[in-house]
Order: sequence, then structure tokens, then C-alpha cells
Amino acid sequence: MKEIEKVLESFHSEIEKVTSLDELNALRVKYLGKKGIVTSLMKNLKNLPNEEKPIFGQRVNKLKNTIEELLSRKREEVNLKERKLRYEKERLDVTLPGARKTIGHRHLISKVLQEIEDVFLTLGYEIVEGPEVETEYYNFDALNTPEWHPARDSHDTFYISTEDKTLLRSHTSPVQVRTMKKTKPPIKIIAPGKVYRKDYDVTHLPMFHQVEGLVVGKDISVVHLKGTLDYFAKNIFGPERKTRLVPSFFPFTEPSFEVYVSCGICGGKGCKSCGFTGWLEIMGAGMVDPNVFEEVGYDPEEWTGFAFGMGVERIAMLKYNVDDIRLFPRNDIRFLEQF
Ligand code: PHE
Repeated sequence: MKEIEKVLESFHSEIEKVTSLDELNALRVKYLGKKGIVTSLMKNLKNLPNEEKPIFGQRVNKLKNTIEELLSRKREEVNLKERKLRYEKERLDVTLPGARKTIGHRHLISKVLQEIEDVFLTLGYEIVEGPEVETEYYNFDALNTPEWHPARDSHDTFYISTEDKTLLRSHTSPVQVRTMKKTKPPIKIIAPGKVYRKDYDVTHLPMFHQVEGLVVGKDISVVHLKGTLDYFAKNIFGPERKTRLVPSFFPFTEPSFEVYVSCGICGGKGCKSCGFTGWLEIMGAGMVDPNVFEEVGYDPEEWTGFAFGMGVERIAMLKYNVDDIRLFPRNDIRFLEQF
């Protein structure tokens, strides 16, 4: 009888330590298995005197039942604990914010280019494009650019083949010539696109974007040019901005101008941003030179026109206060995502 007590005691202390179903199964085998402790107790029955047999048998049976009961209670307990642990591990907090997919947005230059295009589309301009690999003829000759002009120098222009006289266009002005040769006036176009020059510093890139403009008609004058550019500047930079034409020179326009917009930081009073002049240069422009009209077969006595050409990067720098043009192609997310 003492032995039965001991078995129950040791079972109690062993089941106490069980933490998993595997351990629990091992414990069941140890006590109730074919060669288990309780089973071997039963085998002792035959060695006992007859009168003790029934009581001993009853006690062992009771022990067996108790152990079974304890095992099944523990099984439930362990089951519940394991399930809880698993749930905890696999838990989904549906109230957490989702992992947002980072989607990009258009590059600032694409955005500004679109803004520029939109202003001229509103004015009824058509958008045309020309090749980036040009010939010397369209890039220089037809634009009244003399043989000795410094822009023709191989230090400034990327030449592709001297045999074919091909080059990477250094401005979008050749699209003026291509358009006029293809169509009869009146003409009202802009020509956006990439241009190439051998330059690289805070305000110059070897590849950048320009938007060319060309208007040809009857009695087109500087007044139309000035009005158009003023409308453009106010739409891009703000209604309070003013424009100014300053005499300049381009081989393909006569007269030629540099176009300035009043400084947005000091309002034209003069500050560090505008070099204390109150004005910022935004593009080149002028009245189409009669020599260019003659080259494309237009009668300069019948037709007049104006043209302009601006750098998109430069417009973007002025509008968004970017102080280094090289930030645009550098692709640093910290810079790009600001716009
Ligand atoms: N093509 C000139 C440049 O790249 C700009 C310009 C265009 C000037 C049209 C006058 C007329 O600097």
C-alpha cells in the first residue's frame, strides 16, 4: 500500500514539471504503458495473500484512474497553453497601418517641362519634336551661324562624324528650320527636347532640356514676343513677376534679346539671389533673322516672326530655388522627393 502512495506522489511531482504534449506522452508511457510503473504494480498482485488481493487491486485501479484523470486534465492545460503560444506568435494586428508601397512621382524636370508646355498649349501652340542627332546644317548653317562661330568648336559641341557632319544638337533651334522647311506659314510651335554641350559645373550639364518657340505670321512684332513671354513668366513664376528684354546677339535672330524676369525673392529690389540686379535671366529670344527665312524659302518681305529658347533646368532652378543643376541627374531620393 505504501508503494501505491509513493507512486502517486512521484507522479504528482513529475506531472508538475510537464510543459509539452511530448513530455506528457512520455509520462503516460512511463506510468501506464505495458512496462509502466502502474502495470508492474498490478503484476505484484499474485504474490499477495488472498485476503489482501481485493483491496490492493482496488487501490491500484483507483491509482490508475487518478493518474488517467490527471493526465487528461494536464493534456487540456498543455493543449491550451500551446495553442495560446501559437496564436500569440501568429497574431495579426489588423489595426496596424499597412505597409505602404512607395510609389514614385515624376521627376521635377518632367513636371516643369509639362508646366511650360501647358502654358503654350493654352495659347494654341503645337508641340513638335526633332532629332537629337542632328547635322551641322540644321544645327548651325541654316541658322545663319558663321563658320568661325565659337559654338561650332569641338570644345563646345559633341561631334559624331565629321564625314557625315553629324553632331548632338547643341540647342533646339534646328527644329525651327525643320518645321519651316516642312510647312507653310503661319506657324506657332514649341519644340521641347534634350540638347548637348561640353559643359559641367553648378549651372551647366552636358545634357539638358530646352523648349524652343517659333511664331511666324503676318506683322508679327517684338510686341507679340514681349506679350507672349510676359504671359509665360507670370504663369510659371507668379502674376506679380515682371519681364524685361535686354539687347543681345544670336546669329538666327535680329534683333536678339536676353529675357529677364524680376527676382521673386527681393521683388526686384536687388538681393544676393539676383546678384543685386533685381533681375534673373530666363531665356534667349529675338525676331527671326531674314537670312533664316530665305534659307527655308520664306519671303522675308511677306513674313515675320519671333523665336525663343529656354533651358528647362534653369527655369526649374529659379522656380524651386535649386542652387546646383547637377542635383537633377544625380537621382538622390532625398532631393527628388521634395518636389
Ligand atoms: N538657341 C539659343 C540657345 O540655345 C536660344 C534662342 C532660341 C535664342 C531662339 C533666340 C531664339 O542659346
